[in-house]
Amino acid sequence: MTDLSCTYLGLKLKSPIIAGSSGFTDSVKKLQQLEQQGVGAVVLKSVFEEEITHEYDKALRDEVGNTGREEFLDYLDVRIRQENLGKYLQLIKDAKEKLSIPVIASINCKSAYEWMSFADEIQRAGADALELNIFVLPSSLHRASEENEKIYFEIVKQVKKRISIPIVLKISYYFSNLGQFVFDLSHSGIKGLVLFNRFYSPDFNIDTLEVTPSNVLSYPGEISMPLRWISMLSGRLNCDLSASTGVADGKAVVKLLLAGADTVQVASALYRHGIGFVGIMHNELREWMEQHGFETITDFKGKLSQTSYADPGVFERVQFMKYFSDKETNS
Ligand SMILES: Cc1cc2nc3c(=O)[nH]c(=O)nc-3n(C[C@H](O)[C@H](O)[C@H](O)COP(=O)(O)O)c2cc1C
Repeated sequence: MTDLSCTYLGLKLKSPIIAGSSGFTDSVKKLQQLEQQGVGAVVLKSVFEEEITHEYDKALRDEVGNTGREEFLDYLDVRIRQENLGKYLQLIKDAKEKLSIPVIASINCKSAYEWMSFADEIQRAGADALELNIFVLPSSLHRASEENEKIYFEIVKQVKKRISIPIVLKISYYFSNLGQFVFDLSHSGIKGLVLFNRFYSPDFNIDTLEVTPSNVLSYPGEISMPLRWISMLSGRLNCDLSASTGVADGKAVVKLLLAGADTVQVASALYRHGIGFVGIMHNELREWMEQHGFETITDFKGKLSQTSYADPGVFERVQFMKYFSDKETNS
């Protein structure tokens, strides 16, 4: 009998498969369905800094028009923020009441200002942990990488002052020295890192000459980034690791656990196949464990990490070798 239980952020989970933050984690009904399919925890849809600002702008247009009543604008700003947050806090409370698995709240942020006071309210609402999805696009031609990176540490420092529940950072791989940056973050007081977030990217419509959204959902090959980095970082950091991006099926879960991930998050697969697919992923994981004689997750977690694998150099290999180029030209 296989046992899928594991520990993440000091929380006991009955499965390492987590429902990552997405539209599938924004209502209690969907969260309950995910729990029925066996997920170990849920990460709620993020509260976005931009989302709040956008609603504010819209409401300004709708309600104020051209009246020019400055004091009303200030009042409206506070009210809209409270309404948005109020709904989010209610989701946390309802989820905690109806679910028995851990509920991780999520804030999508890029600064250490506006939203900071939300963090303690989220803790008071009963969230088991807080995942911070931080991204500062390194697009400035005049800002040094250290300045961008400093924002991450500043956010952790400020949030840590306010809450005692575990803090998790969900980050991208756009850093000039990813290994050291992640190592330093893991010593900043956080309990976990999600590697990696995935972004909305622009595409071009060459008929209408417009910029359009592209690849909202990941494809299975995208697992290669978290797979490489989790393999190379697991066992070397001072926090847990959760994998995200390209988790298309149960086999992908197996791979990321072999790399050393403590948990594995799923989002696009839910959009592609529905919530019931999580049950299929669990079956695939169990079947694989049975075939290989593994009874618990710890029996095989990290078996293919760089620190455990017999040929650690394979993870550092980045250039295509002669072998592959010859094969391609000969075929
Ligand atoms: C439609 C959609 C909405 C998402 N919303 C959020 C969000 O609110 N907060 C967040 O941190 N990540 C969000 N994500 C990112 C996912 O949690 C996940 O990190 C990313 O999609 C990569 O995982 P996947 O390959 O399983 O999709 C969203 C992803 C999708 C596809």
